[in-house]
Amino acid sequence: MNAAGPRPKIGFLGVGWIGRHRMEAMLAGGAVEAVAVADPSDEAAAEALRLAPAARRVPDLDAMLDLGPDGIVIATPSALHAGQSVRALEAGAAVFCQKPLGRTAAEVEGVVEAARRADLLLGVDLSYRHTEGMKKIRALADGDALGRLYAADLVFHNGYGPDKGWFYDPAQSGGGCVMDLGVHLVDLALWMLHFPEVREVSARLYAQGRPVAAGEVEDHAVVTLDLANGATVRVACSWRLQVGCDAVISAEFYGTEGGAALRNVDGSFYDFTADHYRGTARERLASPPDPWGGRAAADWAARLAAGARFDQSTEGLVETARVLDRIYGRDPAAPVAAADATEGARRLNAA
Ligand SMILES: NC(=O)c1ccc[n+]([C@@H]2O[C@H](COP(=O)([O-])OP(=O)(O)OC[C@H]3O[C@@H](n4cnc5c(N)ncnc54)[C@H](O)[C@@H]3O)[C@@H](O)[C@H]2O)c1
Repeated sequence: MNAAGPRPKIGFLGVGWIGRHRMEAMLAGGAVEAVAVADPSDEAAAEALRLAPAARRVPDLDAMLDLGPDGIVIATPSALHAGQSVRALEAGAAVFCQKPLGRTAAEVEGVVEAARRADLLLGVDLSYRHTEGMKKIRALADGDALGRLYAADLVFHNGYGPDKGWFYDPAQSGGGCVMDLGVHLVDLALWMLHFPEVREVSARLYAQGRPVAAGEVEDHAVVTLDLANGATVRVACSWRLQVGCDAVISAEFYGTEGGAALRNVDGSFYDFTADHYRGTARERLASPPDPWGGRAAADWAARLAAGARFDQSTEGLVETARVLDRIYGRDPAAPVAAADATEGARRLNAA
């Protein structure tokens, strides 16, 4: 496939809110063509077909793969991501999957390995990497404007919790606010620092103000990562924290020569500013509007159309998943059933 050839044919698996949003972004870019949608919800499928009238509704992933698509875009409940991704890759289709790619590092490694074996492009919707602010902050750090980075502080407190029941079932979600929001923060921190070795991980996980219990998912987490390069990363995330607004989201990075921070504006989930700090002075790097939400999806579509293979897949997927395993108190070398996702964390808190 290349830009001058036929457009890649894409199947959209799971077309709930985020699936349709990303579908719209991909189709708006014009790089790919929607050939099929699959979702057990009639309403969701009908809405998706309104966005892509030439696509057809199929019952499931197998029927979608029978059409021989070039790529599958997955936005189903989190427990399904890894299995569906592997199935698609083994059938010869590239994959763009919602985060988390898997509930455990073992699941994520399985998908990355399947993409490597098939030499197919694998993308994950790590959407915050694509904000104008984070792109500018990373370029500053890479250009040495911040000196040696030694501290990072990342926060995502959502004043609401997810409105779909499956998010609260550890077997279907893999975990609570860490799996949902913390995955973005851990990824951003490690991506900024080019995925250094993570020496120590300590975590406190709560559910409704108490240490999380077996079978529950956490709704508040405070995590510290000690990195081999000497830096310390602090991560905090929540569902339904009483923060006086819809959300508090920030990613701050501090180095020997300066600092930089991404922050949401007035509690918004969508609007961010980014600033470069030098001593007590600050310089604005990015401000709203910035339509970043669909950028990872559109970028994957453009890369697929240009013929990208495995080596242009998202970096750091396994590293972040291993950190999440450690936050949940799981030994990455000894994968456990995903249904036990919070058991390790419960033990950690009880210790
Ligand atoms: N990248 C981001 O920032 C971001 C933001 C929001 C959500 N997400 C992720 O997107 C995923 C979906 O979240 P959502 O809020 O849209 O959930 P949702 O429940 O609204 O959507 C999931 C859709 O998948 C469908 N579905 C269920 N089983 C299916 C199957 N076997 N085959 C096909 N479709 C199936 C459901 O009917 C539903 O329409 C989650 O994993 C979530 O973590 C990522």
